[in-house]
Amino acid sequence: MIELRNISKSFSLQKQSFKALDQVNLTVAEGEILGIIGFSGAGKSTLIRCINLLERPDEGQVLVKGMDLGQLNARELARARKKIGMIFQHFNLLSSQTVFDNVALPLVLEHLPKAKISQTVTRLLKLVGLEDKAKEYPKNLSGGQKQRVAIARALANDPYVLLCDEATSALDPATTQSILQLLQDINRRLGITIVLITHEMEVIKAICNEVAVIDQGKLITKGNPEALNADPEHPIIKQFLNPTIMTLPQQLNSKLREVPQDGLFPLIEIQLNGNISFDKLLSLITAGAKAPYKLLKADVTYSGNTNFGKVLLQLQGNTTENATIMQSFHQHNIKNTLKGYA
Ligand SMILES: Nc1ncnc2c1ncn2[C@@H]1O[C@H](COP(=O)(O)OP(=O)(O)OP(=O)(O)O)[C@@H](O)[C@H]1O
Ligand SMILES: [Mg+2]
Repeated sequence: MIELRNISKSFSLQKQSFKALDQVNLTVAEGEILGIIGFSGAGKSTLIRCINLLERPDEGQVLVKGMDLGQLNARELARARKKIGMIFQHFNLLSSQTVFDNVALPLVLEHLPKAKISQTVTRLLKLVGLEDKAKEYPKNLSGGQKQRVAIARALANDPYVLLCDEATSALDPATTQSILQLLQDINRRLGITIVLITHEMEVIKAICNEVAVIDQGKLITKGNPEALNADPEHPIIKQFLNPTIMTLPQQLNSKLREVPQDGLFPLIEIQLNGNISFDKLLSLITAGAKAPYKLLKADVTYSGNTNFGKVLLQLQGNTTENATIMQSFHQHNIKNTLKGYA
């Protein structure tokens, strides 16, 4: 559906040239939800803006549905862009217009008959769950509702691609979830291919079936979210896979010692990188050494059949039992860190 071939883009800043994109090759299949992650300044927005040529690459080709966008004249490009919807972090709604008129705008620009516009806007507002807000102005809406209006507007021209640049970054976690659900629904029901930028691994895990990692203008990897595990030590991937910092409970922190002591038990932080399920991890401890343990904290999220996250536990067996458990972690290639004894 989308093919970026060898895209490079430089910006000149204070007479210096800065390469924002460096020979990026990326393919997005029809019906896919691709998430692009990377740190601030990595080139994510530049990349997504290249897909509709809001940003023209210095080198390379952009193909959407087989059309080489760089070869189109202004009129043809304008027509092609109508089929590529886009939404942004700050919604970009017209504050002086009602919800209805904001969604209607692309259709008014098309000079469609009033009745047709009204019918389409009503259908779209229903799709995004805002039928009752048609006459409201954006200032009277919550962030999530504003983003729904922006989504409805982006769908007005019946696009086959929807580009989302940090569409949930300004929203609280619960609203983020509902917008992600809506995007997934749109993808499934309308078959629209979605490319979304995020700096949150949670967003990727929630709805993306493909993920691309970009760093300093270069595409580091692209594959299904589980494939990130193939290179978990890559500094960027590592940070995205393990965003949680597990702090020790206060009462243990004050007792923490670096070397074993009588009456103290090891505290182990385990990283779940998709190679073992959380349930299996626990059964490994109970079944293997049959030793007591205490689960102190767990932050586990599921992506498809795989889980990622961190687990903090205290092994409470005797020295031999605890060593057996540690040994089995090693055998099963489970990444763990001994935080100390408490
Ligand atoms: N129009 C521009 N002129 C000059 N430099 C630019 C321009 N647009 C982007 N850049 C630079 O290119 C780099 C990549 O920018 P981009 O906006 O693509 O990053 P990003 O990954 O989207 O970051 P963020 O997560 O902060 O949105 C940055 O260093 C930025 O300063
Ligand atoms: Mg950006």
